Amino acid sequence: MLIDFHSHFLPAIDDGSRNIKESVGILDIMAQSGIDKIIATPHFYCTEQSSDSFIEHRDDAYEKLRPYLKEEHPEIGFGAEVLYDHSLVNYDKLPDLCIKGTKWLLLEMPYTNLDDKIISGVEAITNRGDLKVLVAHIERYLNFTSMKRLDELMHLELIGQINAKSLMSFKTRRRCMKLIEKGYVQVLGSDYHRIGRGDVTIEHGYEVITKNKNFYDFAEYAEDCGKKILADEPLDRII
Ligand SMILES: [Fe+2]
Repeated sequence: MLIDFHSHFLPAIDDGSRNIKESVGILDIMAQSGIDKIIATPHFYCTEQSSDSFIEHRDDAYEKLRPYLKEEHPEIGFGAEVLYDHSLVNYDKLPDLCIKGTKWLLLEMPYTNLDDKIISGVEAITNRGDLKVLVAHIERYLNFTSMKRLDELMHLELIGQINAKSLMSFKTRRRCMKLIEKGYVQVLGSDYHRIGRGDVTIEHGYEVITKNKNFYDFAEYAEDCGKKILADEPLDRII
């Protein structure tokens, strides 16, 4: 079962798909790649909008797309890619932004050095008790912060996602493999925004990873993690 945990295919809600035609095109590509389920995770910025209006917009975007959905398209789930902000620690409605039906929140880190204040803020979020944290595209932060800082983050009670596209180029592939080796990666996402930017699905990502004999069983592992996330069951590998 292929579950894409990170995508921006809903029409005209963020910097992802611009219209219904593009959204359908993305879902067609997903279907061709054998994706079973895709979670819509539009960007959420707590300093710019309320969770209620975000959810209303997300529901509207889906309703507009719904008449155009095809049987072969993956099943659609709903979530948000929530950009970290210190105020999230006390943000009452944060659980509303979790992947629907679960307590898992896709959290995007700021594009800056992950300093002590940020790390302890994320720790406080993991300690809230009303949600669990899945960190979005963990490989990306290494452009802004050291591996030591990322190590600190990933040793909190949380799990990680990488983007399939990052597995396609040599430099970022090496980085992703290192993160998988460290046990930081539980699932993949396409982080699909628009057609024509590589059109890489998670199926392509798993193919690259499992070609490496050290990680031949990673797709199975990620599938198991993905199913547990959606069933809201505990994951063994909180590091
Ligand atoms: Fe994203």
